[in-house]
Amino acid sequence: MKLHPIWNDYPQLQPELTQTIKLMENSIQLKNKPVKKALLEMIGAGGKLLRPAYQLLFSQFGPEQDRQKSVALAAAIEMLHTATLIHDDIVDDASLRRNLPTISAKFDNNTAVYAGDYLFVACFKLMSGYTSSLRSLQNNALSMEKILSGELGQMEDHYNLSMTVDEYLANISGKTAELFALSCSVGAFENGTTQLFAKNVSDIGHHIGMAFQIIDDILDYTQPKTEIGKPVLKDVRQGIYTLPLIYALQTKRESLVPFLEKKERMSETDIQEIYRLVNDLGGVTKAQQLANTYTQKALKKIDKLPSNSANTRASLQQLTKTLLTRTN
Ligand code: IPE
Ligand code: IPE
Ligand code: MG
Ligand code: MG
Repeated sequence: MKLHPIWNDYPQLQPELTQTIKLMENSIQLKNKPVKKALLEMIGAGGKLLRPAYQLLFSQFGPEQDRQKSVALAAAIEMLHTATLIHDDIVDDASLRRNLPTISAKFDNNTAVYAGDYLFVACFKLMSGYTSSLRSLQNNALSMEKILSGELGQMEDHYNLSMTVDEYLANISGKTAELFALSCSVGAFENGTTQLFAKNVSDIGHHIGMAFQIIDDILDYTQPKTEIGKPVLKDVRQGIYTLPLIYALQTKRESLVPFLEKKERMSETDIQEIYRLVNDLGGVTKAQQLANTYTQKALKKIDKLPSNSANTRASLQQLTKTLLTRTN
């Protein structure tokens, strides 16, 4: 299997990322052939592996360098991420993921529910075999709770024309930033750093995750679906109002509201008009500025991390900056 091209610039990370994928594949121990096949295809479809990468990078700061354990925990975290994607595609009624048909589209929703459930189980099985303390398992469960509450917050805000920036940020903090925070802190803590250090690292992950989701929401308004490998302009169709749209609403509410009020009855022309307005009214530019602010916060904290022989700090800086300009 080929790693995502983002890793071409990080040859030192490639072996462990490849091992992470292999371990995920080996963890799929299912008799049910369709579910097993669906999961293996999804794992092999070339996700970016960002959460394991951050987990592996932050693990390099600890005094205990158990690389096998780091890879196992990276695989566990990526399985958790993959489970949320499979279930998310059912909820969002999405047909495409990583440029392949989603499990729900290719098989059916039932298969996708079970496939996602299995990955949650596989995540805990792997994690419980390797963690040195109950704390990481507890943190894992707490993170899952926060991811769910972010998703539920987003659901409650469906078609909410008075949605505020703060409400949006609270939702993405749960649904996305939390898993980045967990990835980073587990990596550090499980290799023997102090709790204080792990907390600081968790904040770094949070900032990275906030920027990551804002950029993802921008891509929904700027990229063709062939580039990002998943449906575009999907959020607004489903009444999910993300940052570029919220900012555009703040600038010229009266031009957007008549389209949005149509809800499920919005036509393709209406969607294209919303797309144009969100871009023209500066919604995308303002969202980019906030993503940049979060990235800068993360970089400032990364700058204060100790230096080590692997020059982890430089890799973290480079990767975190690159994510601001990603196109998929
Ligand atoms: C997609 O995450 C879900 C979001 C939080 C936006 P990624 O963009 O990291 O998905 P893959 O794993 O690379 O496909
Ligand atoms: C991503 O949700 C977050 C989770 C899976 C919990 P989205 O619905 O915003 O992400 P994409 O666009 O489908 O990847
Ligand atoms: Mg979603
Ligand atoms: Mg989705």
